Amino acid sequence: MSFPSKVTFVVHFSISILFIISEAAPNFRSYYCPNRYNFTPNSTYQSNLNHLLSSLSSNASREGGFYNTTVGQNSPNQIYGLFLCRGDVTADVCKDCVATAAKAVVQQYCPTGIKAIIWYDECMLRYSNESFFSIMNDRVRYYACNDQNITVLDGFAQLLGSMMNDSVTRATAADQPGATKFATKENNLSSSITLYCLVQCTPDISSSSCNKCLRGRVANLPDHCSGRKGATELVPSCNVRYEVYPFYRNTATPPPPPPPAIAPPDSAPRSNGKSQVSSLTVIAIVTPIAVCMVLLAMVYCLQRRSARKKYPMEEENESLLFDLPTLKAATNKFSEDNKLGKGGFGEVYKGILPNGQEIAVKMLSKNSTQGAEEFKNEVKILAKLQHRNLVRLFGYCLDGNEKILVYEYVPNKSLDNFLNDPEKQRTLDWSRRYKIIGGIARGILYLHEDSRLRIIHRDLKASNILLDEDMNPKISDFGMARIFSNDQTQENTFKIAGTYGYMPPEYAMQGHFSLKSDVYSFGILLLEILSGKKNGSFCTSDPSENLLSHAWKHWNGGTSLELLDLTIRDSYSRTEVNKCIHIALLCVQENPAQRPTMDSIILMLNSNSVTLSSPQRPAFFLQSGTEQNVLELELDQSKGKSILFSVDEASITEVYPR
Ligand SMILES: *[C@@H]1O[C@H](CO)[C@@H](O)[C@H](O)[C@H]1NC(C)=O
Ligand SMILES: *[C@@H]1O[C@H](CO)[C@@H](O)[C@H](O)[C@H]1NC(C)=O
Ligand SMILES: *[C@@H]1O[C@H](CO)[C@@H](O)[C@H](O)[C@H]1NC(C)=O
Ligand SMILES: *[C@@H]1O[C@H](CO)[C@@H](O)[C@H](O)[C@H]1NC(C)=O
Ligand SMILES: *[C@@H]1O[C@H](CO)[C@@H](O)[C@H](O)[C@H]1NC(C)=O
Ligand SMILES: *[C@@H]1O[C@H](CO)[C@@H](O)[C@H](O)[C@H]1NC(C)=O
Ligand SMILES: *[C@@H]1O[C@H](CO)[C@@H](O)[C@H](O)[C@H]1NC(C)=O
Repeated sequence: MSFPSKVTFVVHFSISILFIISEAAPNFRSYYCPNRYNFTPNSTYQSNLNHLLSSLSSNASREGGFYNTTVGQNSPNQIYGLFLCRGDVTADVCKDCVATAAKAVVQQYCPTGIKAIIWYDECMLRYSNESFFSIMNDRVRYYACNDQNITVLDGFAQLLGSMMNDSVTRATAADQPGATKFATKENNLSSSITLYCLVQCTPDISSSSCNKCLRGRVANLPDHCSGRKGATELVPSCNVRYEVYPFYRNTATPPPPPPPAIAPPDSAPRSNGKSQVSSLTVIAIVTPIAVCMVLLAMVYCLQRRSARKKYPMEEENESLLFDLPTLKAATNKFSEDNKLGKGGFGEVYKGILPNGQEIAVKMLSKNSTQGAEEFKNEVKILAKLQHRNLVRLFGYCLDGNEKILVYEYVPNKSLDNFLNDPEKQRTLDWSRRYKIIGGIARGILYLHEDSRLRIIHRDLKASNILLDEDMNPKISDFGMARIFSNDQTQENTFKIAGTYGYMPPEYAMQGHFSLKSDVYSFGILLLEILSGKKNGSFCTSDPSENLLSHAWKHWNGGTSLELLDLTIRDSYSRTEVNKCIHIALLCVQENPAQRPTMDSIILMLNSNSVTLSSPQRPAFFLQSGTEQNVLELELDQSKGKSILFSVDEASITEVYPR
């Protein structure tokens, strides 16, 4: 988030911030749901799972914040599960968190998964068809860093290291079975900065396993998040975290005065705080109006928000390989009847695996630009991604010249099919469209911020947004995606590939792409969803007008609602539609730096109390035309910088549609 938008955020969100804190809903972190392990709906396994989840939920107010249980007698339907609440939370918070997790995991994150893990700040819930009790597991990893650097670097790494060491020692001191393996520690780094750290293991593993698990995490922190104001790493058996603000409920006695002194074990704050409400909740409830508290809350939230940069788990590397005979059988030898359509780089067929699983099989055309590199790229990226708004990759097949990707089957085809078809458009009422917009935004946010890798899709367009049976959007086609390292924000390419009409000018003209390129494409998508028209097929009496200039004209004339699709004019939310038009125009601004981040777009979509800044003139560079063509623009290094189209001469003579 850029500085000015942070300021806007601070000013306009102070009220909702207080609300967020006092509400104290569990704070979601991440989840793990290996897509190769699915159960059949309505099976015994599913009913055992439901039974397990309710048993975990109903046991969550017990002392100890940890519970493991099994349901079912023998495999294959036996299921093992546990939850662990953060060592400092009250029984009530624990109960809430476990209930939320149990619900979310089956409703949202892993509806048919045989095994899953879901993490919140306050608790973790895990289940599997294989026994995992007492077995240390750190193969599934999630880590997150605070965006900000620590300002006092002197002695920081050393102090943090010794605090972590001390915490690990105390957390692993007791070895009787079931002993709480939790410790926190705080210490002053400078007169104004206090470090808070926390370590915890699931109590089912031994002290020595816990020690190994925690030391591994502590050792990783500097690799992932060197010099940051806060960081966390979560694995199934343990977790560590530090921040420069108190993120856990500190009920312990004040820390001992001289820093190197070894504190007595204080690993049981739970016992003396059962009925105590989180101090932040008290602050929010008791003095919501006090200015200083507002400031505190804002600081807290900004830190918390930056600390919530999420990354997915690195999972065990299990094989995703399918063989060609299996896919041939599944698709009736790639018959015409099974053909679903043509994707960006090849034909797509519907298939059914022997276990009844429906799949979409994408055969990459042999002369496609997606060579072996792009192919591996897509597999590599998608295999690591899990999000309900991204299409799931089940696996791939490499056989001679054949390159094949196997995806989940998404029945309602692409959003593209709904644009420019009044019949189909009618089925997309405003609330559905609004849901689709939110889903696409969350999918992109996941790519940009929440996955361990920073991924730029680079080819977001209506035909790459698939709709499932409930019309949830799923982003597909990652052949062009690029992975950025965490702190990289821009890259230049001399091979421009993208879709005419969705490319921002800085990319089409200069080959610069960044997270903001996807934001631009998202803006175009928004306008298309609102208007029911494709950017490229837009027609009015004035041939020089395109969807963007049309939107801008109406915006300035105060007639934005004119943009709206005729088929939904009789029923829509004026506030939501206006907000979406406003966001769309912010996204397509010419200057990438002025376009909002996906993070703030989600905030804007979710809140009605946001004051949005005024959009600047959009980039009119791309005009209507062959929007479906994927472009290849080869620029040599010397030419690269000098090719600059002016807004008016957008003839794109240097661009060659394939
Ligand atoms: C599962 O059971 C529910 C309720 O009994 C039913 O509505 C649903 O159609 C069933 N699903 C399958 C796939 O059998
Ligand atoms: C706790 O779990 C057990 C089985 O694991 C179950 O029988 C019991 O109903 C659950 N609830 C409570 C409140 O103990
Ligand atoms: C819980 O885990 C322990 C091992 O840590 C195991 O001995 C015990 O049987 C488990 N409890 C249930 C109900 O499965
Ligand atoms: C758990 O499920 C997976 C996938 O169905 C299967 O391969 C594995 O054998 C199962 N494990 C047990 C102990 O049933
Ligand atoms: C944090 O420090 C690194 C180098 O240590 C620097 O590259 C980066 O820009 C800094 N980030 C912020 C937000 O100051
Ligand atoms: C933490 O403990 C490990 C092993 O006990 C030791 O190698 C390391 O130097 C310690 N780090 C600090 C900062 O005390
Ligand atoms: C940290 O500083 C605060 C006030 O500046 C002081 O009250 C506290 O005792 C200090 N803590 C430690 C561990 O030195």
